[in-house]
Amino acid sequence: MDATDKLFSGSIPEIYDRLFVPLIFQPYANDLAERIAKVDPANVLETAAGTGVLTRAMVSRLPARTRIVATDLNQPMLDHAMAKQSHPGRVTWRQADALALPFGNQEFDVVACQFGAMFFPDKVKGFSEARRVLKPGGHFFFNVWDRIGNNEFADVVTASLATLFPQDPPMFMARTPHGYHDVAKIRGELAAAGFTGISPETVNHKSKAASPRDVAIAYCQGTPLRNEIETRDASLLEKATEVAADALARRFGNGPIDGLIRAHVITATN
Ligand SMILES: C[S@@+](CC[C@H](N)C(=O)[O-])C[C@H]1O[C@@H](n2cnc3c(N)ncnc32)[C@H](O)[C@@H]1O
Repeated sequence: MDATDKLFSGSIPEIYDRLFVPLIFQPYANDLAERIAKVDPANVLETAAGTGVLTRAMVSRLPARTRIVATDLNQPMLDHAMAKQSHPGRVTWRQADALALPFGNQEFDVVACQFGAMFFPDKVKGFSEARRVLKPGGHFFFNVWDRIGNNEFADVVTASLATLFPQDPPMFMARTPHGYHDVAKIRGELAAAGFTGISPETVNHKSKAASPRDVAIAYCQGTPLRNEIETRDASLLEKATEVAADALARRFGNGPIDGLIRAHVITATN
């Protein structure tokens, strides 16, 4: 993982929340929140909460007596999440690295992490931290994207940028968000962290957008892919967005478009 892959700051959080969350994250947040509600937890810790899409889904599905603590490495992401909360006081927000959680042992019934595990530089360490703060019998719910070839918009955007930067294509999407999809490996790393009862399920959705340009802005400007493009040549951010939008339009058409997204949703028991 490159150093800038985990930097969600500057203009990224606003664009991420406005365009990227509805594009690919909302349906999986609804899915994870439904699964979590079924175990009726008294205490939930969310890691890598980002701008809070799963947090909001949990607030609307879990009873008011459930304590929710939401954390993320990047404070600018949490600032957006806090600004959007509908029930002030319902969630405790705290900046925290999922690999060094500032909580005691066995504090939570559930740890939830939506599309964050791929960013953990040491997966076993991240999973071990989740397990450490879980009560015996507690559950770890998380999801990861499947390979980039099964996530159509990400694949088209990544291929298009290789035409603009042929010597050094920006590979953030393939390397990090779509770089941890081997379910056997994930099972092994959860087991190494001490989890049992590991149940993965592959879940497809359709990613829908008003236009190819909205998709191009979401990927090129609302994710750390932006950092990679700007490191190569900051003056080419708009050009890169155009190249991606044109490639998406050629493949999916010019009006409202949709594409396959596929993720693995995993439950593991302490
Ligand atoms: C793809 S976003 C997912 C955010 C949110 N869960 C969602 O569904 O929109 C990945 C998030 O992981 C966070 N992150 C990266 N490394 C992390 C770490 N070591 N500990 C906690 N959060 C981390 C980033 O700040 C970012 O908000």
